Amino acid sequence: MCGISGIIDQKPVTRNLLTSIANLEYRGYDSCGMAMLNGKGIEVRKNTGGVEEVRSREKLDMMTGNLGIAHTRWATHGGVTTENAHPHLSQNGEFAIVHNGIISNYQKLRERLIGEGLEFRSTTDTEVFVNLVEEAFAQKNDVLGAFLEALKQIQGTYSIVLLSSHDPEHLYCVKQDSPLIIGLGEGCNYIGSDINAFLEHTRKAVVLDDGEFAVISRERYEISDVGKREEREKSILQIDWDTETTKKGGFSHYMIKEIFDEPQTARQALDVPQEQIKQLAEMFQNAPHAYLMGVGTTFFICQMAQYLFSSLSKKYFPAISSDEFNGVVPVSSGELVVAVSQSGETFDTKFSLNVAHEMGAKTAAIVNVMGSSISRMVDHVIMQGSGPEICVVSTKAALAQALLLLRTALELGYKEGCLDSKSFQSHQKELESFPELISILLNEKSGFMRNLARITSSVQNWIFLGCGIYYPVAMESALKMKEVTYLHAEGMPAGFLKHGTLSMIEESVHSLFFVPPPAEVDLHNRTIIAIEEIKTRGGTLVGLYFEGDSQAKSLLDHAVELPPVPSLIAPFVQMILAQMFAYYTALDLKRNIDKPRNLAKSVTVG
Ligand code: AGP
Repeated sequence: MCGISGIIDQKPVTRNLLTSIANLEYRGYDSCGMAMLNGKGIEVRKNTGGVEEVRSREKLDMMTGNLGIAHTRWATHGGVTTENAHPHLSQNGEFAIVHNGIISNYQKLRERLIGEGLEFRSTTDTEVFVNLVEEAFAQKNDVLGAFLEALKQIQGTYSIVLLSSHDPEHLYCVKQDSPLIIGLGEGCNYIGSDINAFLEHTRKAVVLDDGEFAVISRERYEISDVGKREEREKSILQIDWDTETTKKGGFSHYMIKEIFDEPQTARQALDVPQEQIKQLAEMFQNAPHAYLMGVGTTFFICQMAQYLFSSLSKKYFPAISSDEFNGVVPVSSGELVVAVSQSGETFDTKFSLNVAHEMGAKTAAIVNVMGSSISRMVDHVIMQGSGPEICVVSTKAALAQALLLLRTALELGYKEGCLDSKSFQSHQKELESFPELISILLNEKSGFMRNLARITSSVQNWIFLGCGIYYPVAMESALKMKEVTYLHAEGMPAGFLKHGTLSMIEESVHSLFFVPPPAEVDLHNRTIIAIEEIKTRGGTLVGLYFEGDSQAKSLLDHAVELPPVPSLIAPFVQMILAQMFAYYTALDLKRNIDKPRNLAKSVTVG
């Protein structure tokens, strides 16, 4: 999704503006640009393509000035063209804006302005707004007054930053349903659609809430309510993310770097204070009904949790995809909705949480990005502390979410008397050993996963299968495969095969089986039955299985054997290796791994 940056400094800001939009690249975009006030007026340079490409084509680094705004655009209104890229200038060139979100009533406003003789350069909703500011300024001769006057006329979701040649001392911004954060520096201030825009320069930030605008100078910032225009006191957020974790650290892609971060991510998830886990477990315990909600990967993480709660605490908490939540869950007062979101900005999840809140439900969330909307809108939030996840596809953040939900299920199981203190302690020990275990596994098995990917990278059709909790593992792994390789991969419960999909089976159709440890007798038996169903029909069998499983070993055509691990953590181990498999397959296919086509890191539109 689009990224916003703004900097006002005593020194030239060109280089920092460029770095800031490069640091927002991971959000996914198709064009970018910068606007700077350079003594003569506002200069805008922009084009389609990546930051590096546009930098060299448009010579962005030759721009000068000590305040500017920049943007990475993911097209919504209007195609991917230079004209549609941001920043947008008003007709007389005295105002420039960058904008995230959608101005829903822009067509009407555009028609009015055209009727009054205005000629638009782009087909965007954004250009309409900047011209409303210009129009209001002609009446008021005051930049802030014009900005607020223009705001009165628009509807929709937006975060906007405004730069004007009439005021070289300030940047103006506003937030409504689309994130915007101010970074506080020494003699300079920053604006970003997320903290990655300025994390290299400051760890102090102030998060804007919906309906707030800010006037930002080099030394000060003032935040007020758009409606009442009253100044608001806001608390300063101290960001504890490590910038080193955002660097690739010698890996060729963020995706594989982030997979190799997983031992550390797991440790961080296990370090989240037990008190916070207890609080969430109590919320589950006290609610007449509770629902787990996420979308894409986080939906599959919720599905995994559904199995964990069921087996460890004998409770059924349905997992629902955020985009379907409102259509199917008649949520009512006192019930609990627990959302999972890496970015904390996903539109569908935010929307459903809002509805749940309005209906009087209690809400909780597991979120990675500090200061994000979801982290601030729920009754109880657990910050997963996974650090920045830059690759568009989620790996380490997903693992941390699953571990936090596993910890909650264990806590609830203990509270409910389903686990005695001995088994609770022994599971905690298993969890403590997990980071070290995956660290060894990642190193020992990456070669095997690489080879498996080499053998199978020409396969066009995959079916990923598992039973019990391995079913959502299969679903999530198939999504990972699709996202990053663009191949067809379908996840399903192994028991589904005979109800239809078996008709597809022939040699070229490959199935990937997530085989549980043989100690999980029922799950294992059911998985072996499905493997045999495919074997009999001549399909090609690929699988991940644990040492000592002679049945799986003899049936699979291509397999990776894993060392024995406790049943509790076995599904997580397989999920991580499947992430690696998707990565290496995409590597062989020379895909754009960190930014797969058509995808964005945080989906802030509905
Ligand atoms: C993950 O690999 C995907 N890119 C996507 O499914 C993602 O998990 C989904 O959009 C939810 O995002 P969130 O965790 O930021 O809410």
